[in-house]
Amino acid sequence: MEPLQIIQKHYDTQSKAYSLLVNHSTWVAEKAVELAKRIDPSGLDLEFIHQAAMLHDIGIFRVNAPGLDCHGDLHYLLHGIQGREILDAENMPLHGLVCERHVGVGIPRREANSLGMGLPDRDMRPQSTEEKIICYVDKFHSKNGHAQGVVKSVEDIIQGLTALGLDKCQVFTQWMEEFGLP
Ligand SMILES: [Fe+2]
Repeated sequence: MEPLQIIQKHYDTQSKAYSLLVNHSTWVAEKAVELAKRIDPSGLDLEFIHQAAMLHDIGIFRVNAPGLDCHGDLHYLLHGIQGREILDAENMPLHGLVCERHVGVGIPRREANSLGMGLPDRDMRPQSTEEKIICYVDKFHSKNGHAQGVVKSVEDIIQGLTALGLDKCQVFTQWMEEFGLP
């Protein structure tokens, strides 16, 4: 399974959305595999981490994010469940769970319900170590701004998450203690 082939079913390779997505996903995939090799090289599925990291944001074309050249009508928060739907249709349910569970530091069921917005009534927090690593590393790189994306500092990440809730920040700092910096 070649992640780029799946991405290319949904994106014009000449589009800005494609280059932002592939640059970002490649950064996350490389860093996530490096981190996994440091943490537990024999116990973690490195091939899965690489593939799922390449595909984690595949759903963005369906959301409304003009800055990312994405012109769908859905809220950005829904790109995770959209990605799951796309990868379920490819018969890749485990990769799909990475899409669904990587948004922010994951979305607990009660939060999904209180937000509404078309989020499903289920827990969408990363469960496996592979899922957690991809979600964690993703926080260090932003698709916005430059063609190559922007590497974010820990301070910036923590500031952003704290604005969303102290519990979000705590999840991130716990991963940072557990995994170290990517
Ligand atoms: Fe991402």
